[in-house]
Amino acid sequence: MTDTKKSATLSLNGESYELPIFSPTAGPDVLDIRKLYGQAGVFTYDPGFTSTASCDSTITFIDGDKGELLHRGYPIDQLAGKSHYLEVCYLLLYGELPTAAQLEDFEARVTRHTMVHEQMHNFFRGFRRDAHPMATLVGVVGAMSAFYHDSTDISDPWQREVASIRLIAKLPTIAAMAYKYSIGQPFVYPRNDLDYAANFLHMCFSVPAEQYEVNPILARAMDRIFTLHADHEQNASTSTVRLASSSGANPFACVAAGIACLWGPAHGGANQACLEMLKEIGSVDRIPEYIARAKDKSDPFRLMGFGHRVYKNTDPRATVLKQSADEVLDLLGIEDNPLLQVAKELEQTALNDPYFIEKKLFPNVDFYSGIILEAMGFPTSMFTPIFTLSRTVGWVSQWKEMIADPQNKIGRPRQLYLGETARDYIDIENR
Ligand code: ACO
Repeated sequence: MTDTKKSATLSLNGESYELPIFSPTAGPDVLDIRKLYGQAGVFTYDPGFTSTASCDSTITFIDGDKGELLHRGYPIDQLAGKSHYLEVCYLLLYGELPTAAQLEDFEARVTRHTMVHEQMHNFFRGFRRDAHPMATLVGVVGAMSAFYHDSTDISDPWQREVASIRLIAKLPTIAAMAYKYSIGQPFVYPRNDLDYAANFLHMCFSVPAEQYEVNPILARAMDRIFTLHADHEQNASTSTVRLASSSGANPFACVAAGIACLWGPAHGGANQACLEMLKEIGSVDRIPEYIARAKDKSDPFRLMGFGHRVYKNTDPRATVLKQSADEVLDLLGIEDNPLLQVAKELEQTALNDPYFIEKKLFPNVDFYSGIILEAMGFPTSMFTPIFTLSRTVGWVSQWKEMIADPQNKIGRPRQLYLGETARDYIDIENR
């Protein structure tokens, strides 16, 4: 954060107030209003944080107009094309790309933590068999604080580090266990001879009765989905993790809060909602009906997988995943899948429709990730858990950054109160 010596002047009730301006390394200038209430006695109003920076950060940068996403300065398309998920995890956590030795050490540390405490198996069995895997994830990740007492002291940098590695390493195991539980199959232990993505496919699709060979092309596509979802600066779930941890809560509880937020259909739940929408549309001839509904203000229906709060040009993650979707469907020989036909036609229709053009509504990452995951054999209920495990590193990196910041304060927004003013209690017989 650079103090530019620039400032803005606010005129209010005949008084002038100087508001300092900070210049970021990229992105728009930021007006510092921290002293505004103390000096002028007013709050600012910004529900949904459309113009408010909630923190400073050095991790991820998005230029929504350009369709640019950078992690520690590196463009997402380069990372998705040349790097892989665990290297990106290292980059997000520690700020620089690792040397070969650093990467080997990091991968070994993550791999050594892939198993979960055996007693956690009992915890899973407390859930109803048909529980949504996201419900299970919220509960089990929150419960990690009850199993890993030696990594809940956030004032100890070593414990913070161990908690970070545990979360990144165990989330695929927990997500796969939630899936296995929901379909009535036995839990599959992790295999540390496989890489992160291949191991996840193994834990989801292996059964004791049959040999399961992980297809390297599918493992690569899985890794790319993880990489593309790794972090996305101050989105709703990350802000939730930051807000929860601003009170000093333990990292597992904070990440559980982030998972709960991610589950919503306007956020990570959109990939499931998008595929369900494609199934509901069912055939290309019904697309006009759904496009008309999406444009109708009296109908709450929205085209799932379209639009983004920040991207107003293109979602760079969607561009990469579109390519991946073609590769995976080609490999699996299912280019003629009716769902895919609907997806392709819907995409083209929306991209050429003045409503979507005018409002800058483009397919987002969730539009294509659902198509790939469905082709890989995942049920829609697993789409958001996969997003969850991928985003864990983002939450953890942002959490670590926040805790290490000496200026960290408890997050406590103010409000524009529109309720009753003080009034006297009325006894029940007089109401
Ligand atoms: N279909 C139809 N109309 C839409 C859509 C859509 N998917 N998205 C936005 N609009 C319209 C709104 O009705 C609004 O129209 P108006 O100005 O006439 O009132 C305008 O576009 C702006 O939309 P807002 O809701 O104000 O935009 P916001 O930034 O708050 O919402 C969001 C962004 C939540 C992603 C929205 O576009 C949406 O609901 N999309 C569908 C859900 C989805 O795909 N979410 C995934 C996001 S990506 C992620 O989390 C990884």
